Amino acid sequence: MQSYDVVIIGAGAAGMMCALETAKRARSVLILDHAAMPGEKIRISGGGRCNFTNIHASPKNFLSGNPHFCISALSRYTQRDFIALVERHRIGYHEKTLGQLFCDGSARQIIDMLVAEMRGRGVELALSTEVGDVRKTAEGFVLTLSTGTVTCQSLVVACGGKSIPKMGATGFGYELAERFGLAIVETRPALVPLTFDAKTLERLAPLAGNAVEAEVACGKTRFSEAMLFTHRGVSGPSILQISSYWREGDEIRMAMLPGVDVADLIRTAKRGNGRQAVQTVLANHLPKRLAQSIAERTGIDGNLADLSDAQTKTIAAAVNDWRIKPAGSEGYRTAEVTLGGVDTNGLDQKTMQAKSVPGLFFIGEVVDVTGWLGGYNFQWAWSSGWVAGQAA
Ligand code: FDA
Repeated sequence: MQSYDVVIIGAGAAGMMCALETAKRARSVLILDHAAMPGEKIRISGGGRCNFTNIHASPKNFLSGNPHFCISALSRYTQRDFIALVERHRIGYHEKTLGQLFCDGSARQIIDMLVAEMRGRGVELALSTEVGDVRKTAEGFVLTLSTGTVTCQSLVVACGGKSIPKMGATGFGYELAERFGLAIVETRPALVPLTFDAKTLERLAPLAGNAVEAEVACGKTRFSEAMLFTHRGVSGPSILQISSYWREGDEIRMAMLPGVDVADLIRTAKRGNGRQAVQTVLANHLPKRLAQSIAERTGIDGNLADLSDAQTKTIAAAVNDWRIKPAGSEGYRTAEVTLGGVDTNGLDQKTMQAKSVPGLFFIGEVVDVTGWLGGYNFQWAWSSGWVAGQAA
């Protein structure tokens, strides 16, 4: 039987950060994963370039049952700390948009950096290793693995959420939390494309492939970023963002020309040439098919000269206050993250340790803290992994 000070389940972003920090404190560390390679989600992230943090990251970019929970970790290990680590490893990076930092080269550079940091400090990495039974003892924990039995004083659960099961996401972290009596905030797919019912799709099918810079709102939350019509509904950054706030039955509101007074635009065009069709004017500002679809939806055709004030307002609303009720989402199959997770009420925000089970820690996506799209989720993984690494 092998004994370690610390065992970490999950060699993803949070687990590897925790491993290297724990090892800095001269603790013996085993990090294990059932996958054949570490950091598989890092590898596919950001289109292969890993959007590893966001320069504007702050607690307001996160959703949680307790919005204050993430403050401590995010302020103790900030985006600037992670950027400094990236710079020490001479990994080139750039800001793409809205503070999102990506590698110039490949996401593999981030994995290689974390693995090199772990190796340099003597962390043991066990891949293709399944975890069976996990028991608490007076001294710590006993884990039955596919490769044998190990014991440890501290156990860190870093096995991520349920998104993309085909990449090895299991929900095992939630199961473990429940086994130890911790509460789980209901989980659901987030940062995920939304789908429409068959009738709506029939109408919008010709729009598939068209993208616009839109403002998308649900309740009081709104995001202005690109939006894409797909064969099953809508996607693109603004939709992924709003999906974290959307619930079944909610309508979303979409502005295709945010900040533009569409009624005024039509009146000006009318004064210039009253013999233009509505869709011709809209097509000067929107993809042609979308302009056509909006005109069809209002049932208003004919020339601008014939438009009443009420009709002008109807068209303006169709462009900038388009309300639609998505039927659902694409689910965990394509969701970037899982909303909900281990209830933060059961965890100490300074260490990520379970209040009721000394020595048991939960970090990263498995915890009920979910970031916006744009590098925030990795920052949470780094910050929560780092703080647990100072205590485990
Ligand atoms: P992560 O999922 O990274 O790691 C968990 C590890 O646990 C995995 O290695 C898994 O194999 C292992 N595991 C699971 N169950 C196990 C078990 N039963 N036994 C042993 N091991 C087990 N975020 C961001 O900030 N910027 C970005 O660019 C992107 N891009 C992106 C693209 C795509 C396609 C996805 C799906 C997600 C993103 N994300 C992202 C989100 C980001 O990947 C995610 O938030 C972090 O990887 C979470 O880090 P964790 O370490 O918590 O889990």
